[in-house]
Amino acid sequence: MEKDRKFNAVVTGVGMYVPEKIMDNAFFEKIVDTNDEWIRSRTGIRERRLLENGATSDLATKAAEDLLKSKNMTADEVDVIIVATVTPDMFFPATACLVQNNIGAKNAWGFDLSAACSGFLFAFQTGCSLIESGRYKKVMVIGADKMSSITDYTDRNNCILFGDAASAVLLEPSEDHTIGLQDSLLRIDGSGKNALYMSGGGSLNPPTHETVDKKMHYIFQDGKAVFKVAVKGMADISYEIMQKNNLSSEDIAYLVPHQANLRIIDATAERMGLSKDKVMINIDRYGNTTAATIPLCLTEYYRDGKIKKGDKLILSAFGAGFTWGASYLVWSI
Ligand code: UT7
Repeated sequence: MEKDRKFNAVVTGVGMYVPEKIMDNAFFEKIVDTNDEWIRSRTGIRERRLLENGATSDLATKAAEDLLKSKNMTADEVDVIIVATVTPDMFFPATACLVQNNIGAKNAWGFDLSAACSGFLFAFQTGCSLIESGRYKKVMVIGADKMSSITDYTDRNNCILFGDAASAVLLEPSEDHTIGLQDSLLRIDGSGKNALYMSGGGSLNPPTHETVDKKMHYIFQDGKAVFKVAVKGMADISYEIMQKNNLSSEDIAYLVPHQANLRIIDATAERMGLSKDKVMINIDRYGNTTAATIPLCLTEYYRDGKIKKGDKLILSAFGAGFTWGASYLVWSI
């Protein structure tokens, strides 16, 4: 990455929100033909959270408020709000606008970004670029998804995977180039569009009784097909960013992977030569929360005192689109 710019974008704050209601594997044993052993061994998930009342903007607002409170700062200091989500409250206005209004960020602009499970990674790079430009001083990047709003709870292949959550990071400029975002490798490949999608409700299939009857407003996933490309895509790009930045496995404090399936995470860590203690995991407690997984890991590990300033992290994700990528971040708080 070019070093001639004045500022690096560094993470200066984190925040999160998970709803209280827990859906454990026993709950799914009651509603579909599945069992705890299958879910744990095939995915690594034990439980996930459910937002019973409210929408994605409520999750995102609570994560933003948690961040502001922990930083002891006011919302009017925020310049930009980016919300990564595939479950916006509505097509428009953007969820970012709803969050802006809820928290009272009266000097901010912002927008939503749609990149499914890679949403946080893509929004993080976007936010960092705004900081690096020198034009903005405080950018809030939020990953938020109410996956329960697009999950078919009669489809055992998919319903056991997803949960609701939101998490946020604050980006600020630093003239210290040894900390903050060092590099990103991000990719999209729309030839994967038939493996993971929600086909109803958009301009292709506007909502009708038929789209509802055909369950087109729910996630469709060819799990096996996605698994194959996700394992390769996430492992390859994580390895590539290590090579490009001359990082050995000893140099890396943590892999911060999107939490879709423990087996995909293990394969990525193995390719990078990382032992299990260097991999952030919380899929067991939250399942796949789409855009929220990576900042949720960062927030929990930071608050537990498990990451410190100067730690080298590789953030990595794969999702619908296909979208995927990896970022090399040096922790700064
Ligand atoms: O985050 C965005 C990107 N998404 C991903 O990365 C997800 C990628 N895919 C996966 O993680 C995995 O493919 C799944 C967890 C979705 C499925 O695991 P799998 O090992 O690929 O299972 P499968 O789809 O090949 O199914 C194996 C068997 C099938 O039965 P038969 O045909 O072998 O008799 C399924 O019907 O397991 C069955 N099955 C289940 N059994 C019990 C599928 N879902 C369930 C279930 N409980 N919930």
